[in-house]
Amino acid sequence: MSVTTFIKGISHFLPPRIITNADLEKIMPTTDEWIRQRTGILERHYADPGIGTSDLAYEAALRAIEDAKIDKSEIDFIIAATLSPDYYFPGIGVLVQAKLGLNQIGALDIRNQCSGFIYALSVADQYIKTQTYKKILLVAAELQSSNLDHSYDGRDMAALFGDGAAALILEPNHSNGGHGILSTHLFSDGRFASELLMEKPSSKDNPVFSQKMLESKRCFPRMNGKTVFKNAVEKMPEAVNAALKHNNLTIEDVDHLIPHQANDRISLMVAHKLKIPVEKVIRNIHRTGNTTAASIPIALDEAVKEGRIKQGDLIVLTAFGSGFTWASAVIRW
Ligand code: COA
Repeated sequence: MSVTTFIKGISHFLPPRIITNADLEKIMPTTDEWIRQRTGILERHYADPGIGTSDLAYEAALRAIEDAKIDKSEIDFIIAATLSPDYYFPGIGVLVQAKLGLNQIGALDIRNQCSGFIYALSVADQYIKTQTYKKILLVAAELQSSNLDHSYDGRDMAALFGDGAAALILEPNHSNGGHGILSTHLFSDGRFASELLMEKPSSKDNPVFSQKMLESKRCFPRMNGKTVFKNAVEKMPEAVNAALKHNNLTIEDVDHLIPHQANDRISLMVAHKLKIPVEKVIRNIHRTGNTTAASIPIALDEAVKEGRIKQGDLIVLTAFGSGFTWASAVIRW
């Protein structure tokens, strides 16, 4: 009997402080109109100073454990996806493990930026299918607001990003029902690394930290927005089509498409290219901004809790981001 990876519980956490476009107008040269028209974003959440990414992940994890109706001691592995860890090292997986007070189980950090959730899901899927672990806690969390450049130079990036976290409890499904993860497909092209990156601090510098580094402002994330946009609208449909082909499905079989919430114009263009009705596309970027690795599972959880996603529905996830990396996953809910 084949084993599929089943999502036993899911939840998310957004820090309570809401930053509207009007709030951003007060701290950087931008307008509500520009942000709405170019990105579809109306507001995003920012964590307060003193809060770390692992704190957001922990809050989401507590809620996912409750949703799964398990005891936290049943968790036998942690996978954490983030590009904004509390520390340069260690990663946030071990911090979440300590906050939850779990036994000495393994904790793995995944660094694949906006594709981080699907990469993490893929790793979890392999561990569950090979019956290595029985209850994996997957957290995807980002705290971007503490390192955005709200000056003229960084306003393209600063308009996009928000903070947030999501968590899933994954377990094996031994029944023939086939509910769970049907496939994951992962891609990358490192030739584009410099198109979307936070370059500093860098191991290439000796010493790594210097006044010069701060003055260069290259410790803020930077991107070539047009190149990112062009590749995102090409690669996400390709990843979805690879997933559909692998599962002998067509786009008509898909009940919900959840693209990484990078920019609403990107999501709409991906839908257009795939010829999927826009009503089937889950979009929450207007309220969250781009929460990087957390964006897809936050959107998934919201759609589940709203009753929009029902048992048996076919869901396709797709992401694109820094690396470049891109990915897709197919889930039977
Ligand atoms: N507010 C106001 N004006 C802004 C601005 C902001 N926050 N950010 C940039 N601008 C200005 C630019 O300076 C430029 O001004 P100029 O014409 O006087 O030089 C103008 O807006 C147009 O910039 P441009 O880069 O052509 O805009 P765009 O249509 O490409 O949209 C993005 C910019 C960032 C919205 C778009 O490129 C994008 O979404 N790219 C993908 C980003 C993404 O998804 N990144 C994360 C990947 S996971």
